Amino acid sequence: MGKIIVCGASGAFGRATAQALLARCAAEDLVFLSRTPERLGDFASRGAACRHADFDDPASLPAAMAGGERMLLISTARVGTRVGQHRNAVAAAVAAGVRHIAYTSVIAADEPGNPAIVKDDHRATELLIADSGAEWTFFRDSQYAEAVAGPMAIPALAMGVKPDNCGEGKVGFVSRADCVASAVAVLTGTGHANTAYTLTGPQALSIPEAMALASELAGKPIVVDQVDDEAMFAYFDSLGVPRHASDIVPDGPIPWSSDDMVTFGQAIREGYFARLTDHVERLTGQAPRSLRAVMEEFRPQWPA
Ligand SMILES: NC(=O)c1ccc[n+]([C@@H]2O[C@H](COP(=O)([O-])OP(=O)(O)OC[C@H]3O[C@@H](n4cnc5c(N)ncnc54)[C@H](OP(=O)(O)O)[C@@H]3O)[C@@H](O)[C@H]2O)c1
Repeated sequence: MGKIIVCGASGAFGRATAQALLARCAAEDLVFLSRTPERLGDFASRGAACRHADFDDPASLPAAMAGGERMLLISTARVGTRVGQHRNAVAAAVAAGVRHIAYTSVIAADEPGNPAIVKDDHRATELLIADSGAEWTFFRDSQYAEAVAGPMAIPALAMGVKPDNCGEGKVGFVSRADCVASAVAVLTGTGHANTAYTLTGPQALSIPEAMALASELAGKPIVVDQVDDEAMFAYFDSLGVPRHASDIVPDGPIPWSSDDMVTFGQAIREGYFARLTDHVERLTGQAPRSLRAVMEEFRPQWPA
């Protein structure tokens, strides 16, 4: 087998994937890409190739992707401006001989009625990968349990209140660790060509139910203030979150827009996240982790 490439290997998803691959494969079969490969010194010292790649600089990509057979393309962070980056990555991979591209997408990416604007980038990327001539595997991830246990629960516990526009819509929160394990199973296994997996956790909960769980575990109250989309925009405005992707400062402190987050909430409210699958277990052989288990792990970081 040729080499396995992981893009964005210094990010949260990429780093975890790289670690799991190093535990499972010969290091000389692994190539980890980053705009900052110097941050991958721990992987390089174990014998993996750590190469510079910037999707905004197509000239950096042919050498980075040389020798690859399978590649994990982890979606870059800026919703609304990343399809061109993904297009450059896919074109370079195929030109370098990569035969299978796996991609981290989002749940319901292929459902036209889904109002979450995050799905537009993901669907466009899925289609360009499917058209590239490479085999593909898409991971349509539900909302990460880590995003709820950390960035959502921590301010909610600190302030005692969580403004929210998701209504009673349910989410099959999935652990990012389970999504990483699923990606590793595909990158190292067979039989996954031209397949889309919907990755969810074991239980569907609403945001008020998730915050009630955090409240129970922390022993502190959280009031979920259920607001409409306009009030949600106003709340993000008050925090200085850019409204639109085009207003995001590259590599600035807030890499997302309120357009993204408010329409994400709308999609939850309308039921697009209210589904559970057995795909994590089918891919990894392990039952997916619960939101409670992920929150227990985050508890030491929560406000006292
Ligand atoms: N489903 C959910 O609930 C959920 C929650 C959070 C995140 N996500 C999505 O999951 C994905 C991964 O999340 P994460 O937490 O791992 O994000 P992250 O830590 O910000 O990683 C994003 C990666 O994108 C790479 N990247 C950014 N610009 C690039 C460029 N110009 N060229 C090449 N690579 C570039 C970065 O690689 P280098 O810095 O190494 O170059 C970085 O490793 C993101 O798309 C994020 O939006 C989904």
